[in-house]
Amino acid sequence: MADDFLKYQAQTSPHPLAMKVSHAKGSYVYDVNNKAYLDFVAGVSACTLGHCHPKVVTAIKEQLDSYLHVMVYGEYIQEPAVELAKLLAKNLPNSLEKTYLTNSGTEAIEGALKLAKRATGRSQIISANNAYHGSTMGAMSVMGFEERKRAFRPLLPDVSYITFNNEEDLIKITKKTACVVLETIQGGAGFIEPQNHYLEKVRERCDKVGALLILDEIQPGIGRTGKLFGFEHYNCVPDILVTGKGLGGGMPIGAFTASSKLMDLLQDHPKLGHITTFGGHPVIAAAALATLKEVTKSDLIPQTLEKEQLFRKHLVHPLIVQIRGKGLMLAAMTPSADITNELILGCQDEGLILFWLLFEPKAIRITPPLTISKDEIIEGCQIILKVLDKIQKKYSSSTN
Ligand SMILES: Cc1ncc(COP(=O)(O)O)c(C=O)c1O
Repeated sequence: MADDFLKYQAQTSPHPLAMKVSHAKGSYVYDVNNKAYLDFVAGVSACTLGHCHPKVVTAIKEQLDSYLHVMVYGEYIQEPAVELAKLLAKNLPNSLEKTYLTNSGTEAIEGALKLAKRATGRSQIISANNAYHGSTMGAMSVMGFEERKRAFRPLLPDVSYITFNNEEDLIKITKKTACVVLETIQGGAGFIEPQNHYLEKVRERCDKVGALLILDEIQPGIGRTGKLFGFEHYNCVPDILVTGKGLGGGMPIGAFTASSKLMDLLQDHPKLGHITTFGGHPVIAAAALATLKEVTKSDLIPQTLEKEQLFRKHLVHPLIVQIRGKGLMLAAMTPSADITNELILGCQDEGLILFWLLFEPKAIRITPPLTISKDEIIEGCQIILKVLDKIQKKYSSSTN
């Protein structure tokens, strides 16, 4: 199987972790030898309610018995998609009322960028250095990491960059700017939070020049940071909100939400301004609806902040120099990329899943399911400390 995996399935890196998955339940993934791995990654912030949450599984099974794909996006009235869009609206400010459902986060970013161009008649897009918004051509065009996109140029023209949290750069947002697209908390860059009312200042500048503000909440959204949406921490409502990952509860989804006035622009000039066959798929929408209901009705969201404190209390070690992030979107920083690599691989051997961030090689991703228990957090932290002790010993004996 491992040979076939490498031979037939296209790879994205030369050294995939290659765990052979058997099944997954709650906070654990099991390999084919039935070894349990405590999951501190949640499929990269996607499995909000852990693995195979009964409410998500039931919603999927019930929908499977009714209908699967019946028509392209937006033509027929399909209850799961309608209810999902309505529940999103109920939990958002009035100006974010109408949602377009897509198959992935990157696709939702594409839709949002197109909407901003269509609405403003402008072409310039401003993004942030070290930003990640997805891997399709448009989303990659606004990725702020040249090394990973050079080989794919030419990309979208008229994209400029600002540095996240740098207020002096805001002057670059002008009357030529269609939109500014930012992650509410920068993910791949190293879980960088906005400082000093930064997002409010971006909002103010966008309003002044008539540019739209797109906030990418594909990672921080759906309760991960202690609010349903990250922007609620920062007093800044975007014109277009982009979500994904954790919204699906383990199923593939993306969404962009805006006012009806904005969203209705996709209906004409040209008509069919953004179309998809499978976006809003009934089974996916049913899973997302069950996930969103559970997140908004339970006390999982306030618990994320308590759980963050537990991580911060237990992850104290000379090789952890900083813990960045908010709620259950945390990055433990080690002194070097080598130590980070050793820790991630060493923890996998010990039955704990950790992962990297895209552009910050010293960071260790800690984004567990929101449903993780306090005992599981302590158990996982102890594994991290044990592996770090081993690494520390190895380095001190090699320098002695
Ligand atoms: C902030 C952000 N934007 C966009 C994306 C792309 O989403 P997807 O992988 O679902 O296309 C990701 C995925 O990692 C992300 O973290």
